[in-house]
Amino acid sequence: MDFSIKAFDTKNTIVTAKTGCIAVAVYENKKLSDAAKALDGAGEITAALKSGDISGKAGTTLLLRAVKGAAAERVLLVGLGSADALSEKSAASGVAAALKVFATLGASDAIIALPLTEVKDRDVNWAIRCVVQGAHEGAYRTDTQKSKKDPAPAGVKKLALAVPNTAATKLALAQAIAIANGMDLTKDLGNLSANICTPTYLANTAKKLGKDYGFDVEILDRKQLEALKMNSFLSVTNGSEQPPKFIIIKHMGGKAKDAPVVLVGKGITFDTGGISLKAGPGMDEMKYDMGGAASVLGTFRAIGEMNLKLNVIGVIAACENMPSGRATKPGDIVSSMNGLTIEILNTDAEGRLVLCDALTYAERFKPAAVVDIATLTGACIVALGHHHSGLFTRDDAAHEKLAAELQSAGQQTGDTTWRLPIGELYNEQLKSNFADLANIGPPGGASCTAAAFLENFTREYTWAHLDIAGTAWKSGGAKGSTGRPVPLLTSFLINRV
Ligand code: BES
Ligand code: MN
Ligand code: ZN
Repeated sequence: MDFSIKAFDTKNTIVTAKTGCIAVAVYENKKLSDAAKALDGAGEITAALKSGDISGKAGTTLLLRAVKGAAAERVLLVGLGSADALSEKSAASGVAAALKVFATLGASDAIIALPLTEVKDRDVNWAIRCVVQGAHEGAYRTDTQKSKKDPAPAGVKKLALAVPNTAATKLALAQAIAIANGMDLTKDLGNLSANICTPTYLANTAKKLGKDYGFDVEILDRKQLEALKMNSFLSVTNGSEQPPKFIIIKHMGGKAKDAPVVLVGKGITFDTGGISLKAGPGMDEMKYDMGGAASVLGTFRAIGEMNLKLNVIGVIAACENMPSGRATKPGDIVSSMNGLTIEILNTDAEGRLVLCDALTYAERFKPAAVVDIATLTGACIVALGHHHSGLFTRDDAAHEKLAAELQSAGQQTGDTTWRLPIGELYNEQLKSNFADLANIGPPGGASCTAAAFLENFTREYTWAHLDIAGTAWKSGGAKGSTGRPVPLLTSFLINRV
């Protein structure tokens, strides 16, 4: 989709806009939006509402052709619900409905002139993102591994948004497009099967991003990881035939002396559970266990496209978690990169084992902040469902600030987080008789003990942990990667510039 801005002012009116289709809003109780009123010179829109052909309920549509009051070839009426309180939900469903019709039209260009800036507590940036993200969502296909490709989307290819044409809206549009492109990459990586999307594939994707956007990319292999004493990370990869890859990707868009933000991604390209083998049903979904890594790469695509003026470093620990004769066994004790020894009581709690060494590695960048992103615990889905990512930080002033930044970036983009606790009570549950730490606690509060485990490796900097087990993908009929939390991470970084 090709996006642009179409400002309506005194010279440039809705009435004279030449386009294949213009979408305007109508409401329940036969009420018209200002844009609909402007096109209703001959009373056709009023008549359509009166006839009952469209109720005005959020998400309803009616396509009119040859409307006398409009230069546009078609006018699409889009219901937005109640005229008094335009909610985010009805606005988003109106946008989705309009885009769905656009995709079936015999027209190649359209204007979306819905009053999205009237949504309570939302601004023009939100309106722009809503349309751009909606259009990407609609156009996204998961057919890369099908021999017969899904039919290419028909209809509108050029979409103009009716918002004021200012430097701020142009920037907002560029950012929205970058975020949507970043999400597409994250989705592609998540949806690819694990026999293709291996640690090596993730490393090659990082290299390709490096070529495209000028990032500095470094890939460490097993020998180098051994030299760094990343024995916790390496213990997870023992059972796998696929070589582990440790990926470092740098976008130094800020001042040379500015401390970077470091994003650390869990990159388990398939999680069988290892010797603590998972149950069979649904195990295919563990191909998404690299969702944290995929969101780091998607975010890098977005910040590369925007050429964001900020220093950002991505660190990805990528490997498979497989059972075999060489695999780590429950009870095995390993020594992590920072020296803490870990008793691996459950080989399925592998995310924290790869992340702890990646978090120790991040110390060398003297970071301004570190955020790790991981499909870490099934318990996070139990706690929060698929709505919010779990957000964990310490509770001193610096960490409260970082948590607030992430929470508000989530609010801005609808890619929301919810805070969950860590602290001494959870740390105590990770005591081991034989090592410094056990890798699991008792069954209750498993997301919190997992985060508390990570906290032990983050004492040198300001840190937050995002558990995206519930938000990175959808199960069921619409099974697939969601592209989250790329919007959250990217706006968090934008806000830091
Ligand atoms: N990758 C899983 C977490 C997960 C489960 C994400 C389901 C998405 C959906 C993680 O490695 C894992 O297996 N965690 C265990 C931890 C347990 C052994 C303490 C879990 O959640 O069961
Ligand atoms: Mn696991
Ligand atoms: Zn896992």
